[in-house]
Amino acid sequence: MFRLGPLTPLFVAITANALSLPSLNDNVFLTRSNVIHWGPCDTSFETAKPIPSYPIDCANLTVPLDYTNPNSTATINLELLRIPAYKKPSNGSILFNFGGPGDDGRMSLAAGLDRFLAITGNQNDLIVFDPRGTVNTLTMSCYNDTERAQASLEYPAFSNASDTAVGTMWTSDQVLANLCHERLKDIGSYVGTAFVARDLMSVVDALDEDGMLRYWGGSYGTVLGATVAAMFPDRIDRMVLDGVDNSHEYYHAYEVEWLTDSDKTFAGFFSGCVATPDACPLARDNKSADQLESDFYSFLDNLKYHPLTDGSSIVAYPDFKNLIILDLYAPSLWPQLAVALDRLYRGNITAYTSISSLVNTSLQTTTPESVFGIKCSEKSVRTPTLAGFIPAIEAKYNVTRILGDVFVHQDMMCANWEMQAKEVYQGDFMVRTKNPVLFISNTYDPVTPIVSGKNMSSGFEGSVLLEHHGYGHASIAQPSVCTIKATQKYYHTGELPASGTICEPDIPLFSNKTWNDVMIKLNSTS
Ligand SMILES: *[C@@H]1O[C@H](CO)[C@@H](O)[C@H](O)[C@H]1NC(C)=O
Ligand SMILES: *[C@@H]1O[C@H](CO)[C@@H](O)[C@H](O)[C@H]1NC(C)=O
Ligand SMILES: *[C@@H]1O[C@H](CO)[C@@H](O)[C@H](O)[C@H]1NC(C)=O
Ligand SMILES: *[C@@H]1O[C@H](CO)[C@@H](O)[C@H](O)[C@H]1NC(C)=O
Ligand SMILES: *[C@@H]1O[C@H](CO)[C@@H](O)[C@H](O)[C@H]1NC(C)=O
Ligand SMILES: *[C@@H]1O[C@H](CO)[C@@H](O)[C@H](O)[C@H]1NC(C)=O
Ligand SMILES: *[C@@H]1O[C@H](CO)[C@@H](O)[C@H](O)[C@H]1NC(C)=O
Ligand SMILES: *[C@@H]1O[C@H](CO)[C@@H](O)[C@H](O)[C@H]1NC(C)=O
Ligand SMILES: *[C@@H]1O[C@H](CO)[C@@H](O)[C@H](O)[C@H]1NC(C)=O
Ligand SMILES: *[C@@H]1O[C@H](CO)[C@@H](O)[C@H](O)[C@H]1NC(C)=O
Ligand SMILES: *[C@@H]1O[C@H](CO)[C@@H](O)[C@H](O)[C@H]1NC(C)=O
Repeated sequence: MFRLGPLTPLFVAITANALSLPSLNDNVFLTRSNVIHWGPCDTSFETAKPIPSYPIDCANLTVPLDYTNPNSTATINLELLRIPAYKKPSNGSILFNFGGPGDDGRMSLAAGLDRFLAITGNQNDLIVFDPRGTVNTLTMSCYNDTERAQASLEYPAFSNASDTAVGTMWTSDQVLANLCHERLKDIGSYVGTAFVARDLMSVVDALDEDGMLRYWGGSYGTVLGATVAAMFPDRIDRMVLDGVDNSHEYYHAYEVEWLTDSDKTFAGFFSGCVATPDACPLARDNKSADQLESDFYSFLDNLKYHPLTDGSSIVAYPDFKNLIILDLYAPSLWPQLAVALDRLYRGNITAYTSISSLVNTSLQTTTPESVFGIKCSEKSVRTPTLAGFIPAIEAKYNVTRILGDVFVHQDMMCANWEMQAKEVYQGDFMVRTKNPVLFISNTYDPVTPIVSGKNMSSGFEGSVLLEHHGYGHASIAQPSVCTIKATQKYYHTGELPASGTICEPDIPLFSNKTWNDVMIKLNSTS
């Protein structure tokens, strides 16, 4: 499953690696030859591919543990995955990051192989690595599985789940931040965006092409992109930043701007439903979109105090809310979500449960605490008391009703975080890159609003912001031939779309069209 984006609350059961503190390979000297030896990938990546016959390969690259200390010879291992260009010869490699922070890059690229070849135009090798903090590289995992499952039972993940949730979360987050420090203090300071930016350039160097970075970043991957571009402006060849996050906020605040359009996006679920009644059972009673939305919130508030059951499964606020959040990212799931809601409203818990499991896509990473390990160690704010933190909660509630209580847990962890990244980009993101950057923002994105795209584009000289007139998280959520052609052309020629370009998606809301239909249209018009 392709995953992208800021992560959902992490007090959820996961099936991941037990805690193991990586050793730091202290004695490996940097006398390696900077060559990447590509070989076969693990079967897990092979089986994730949407096109089974398409080749992929994998490699390891040794990079410095601590870029700030030239005396240190300690190194770490980056695990890479490559999708060779479809058209040969390759016109150079494009590096990827899918956000989170904390997404395991290799799995996401393997699973999205067809889409990423399409949006880059088939002419480049696509390369990704699991960023430090994730999977096997400086793994930011604070719990073992047993402890994590226990915590997910004991602690609420949503601050507005009850009137005791905020206090309970605050205390449990203090405990978790402390535990993370205790267990990860030896590696915590080597994880962070600036070091990953340098890892990107280490990969570029090892590839031994033209020494320039070609890049695609989505969601938090746009923070990484903006950071590497600001640190190495002369080495940027092509950079597409899709689903733009406000990097200023990311580094310096408990983020609020990213939720600007969350409610607007959710409202689209209901207006899309009403506009397509044949595909949306909720529209059956001819209610207006506003009425459907207000019915939803009445149901949600009631569910909080009166969870439903059919005698075996339980439908309660946290799981239900999780489902809604995940689906907000992906309008392709909205028709099924509407059916599930309709069954639930009518009291058919069994039918709801069978459908909801289909639309319960996972945003989980294999390294659940990596989001804190990366983000919190480089955020300049900390807050020692709950009283001092309350305004940060209120600010979110003021901006959005649907996602207001969802990311509070992340911020509380950051408020209490005890580690600090060794290097953090300190500049102002006013940058003149050697070649200009292409920004893409959706008109209706639940977590990366277009105002953030405008903000970031204004700092990057010569950049253009393409407005993708679609719903969901980043342009790939509701794809568009127009947007794809713009990125293909940019990677191929360096030419940016005209400033003010707006692209319409080619999968209407509540339609049964898929990415395949978009691919067919793309091929028939190219
Ligand atoms: C990379 O290193 C890991 C850990 O040492 C090893 O398991 C894996 O097989 C290596 N991958 C490749 C492609 O060489
Ligand atoms: C590196 O070693 C030199 C010589 O021993 C020393 O002066 C310098 O402070 C060291 N730098 C760091 C970052 O430790
Ligand atoms: C990509 O193609 C262009 C045009 O043919 C060429 O100038 C450029 O050097 C190529 N880049 C790489 C990295 O191969
Ligand atoms: C997980 O940690 C707990 C307590 O910290 C310990 O009792 C348990 O044995 C550990 N479980 C595993 C599978 O390592
Ligand atoms: C909804 O509107 C349609 C078309 O106006 C009408 O045929 C139908 O009876 C209405 N249904 C309800 C439940 O009011
Ligand atoms: C619930 O929905 C299922 C599947 O749609 C159906 O088979 C079942 O009869 C429904 N139960 C009730 C009580 O309506
Ligand atoms: C969604 O998946 C998670 C993880 O597998 C599970 O805990 C949760 O109960 C599911 N929620 C729904 C509404 O099916
Ligand atoms: C939230 O909104 C209320 C009511 O408009 C206002 O009084 C309060 O100052 C706002 N709080 C924050 C932190 O924005
Ligand atoms: C918090 O919960 C109350 C009571 O259920 C509800 O009225 C309010 O809209 C909720 N606010 C947010 C941001 O979730
Ligand atoms: C961008 O966002 C930051 C943080 O919110 C803000 O301080 C700055 O003024 C904004 N810049 C522009 C050009 O809007
Ligand atoms: C897709 O939807 C259209 C219009 O609602 C319908 O005519 C068509 O049969 C559907 N196709 C499939 C494969 O479900």
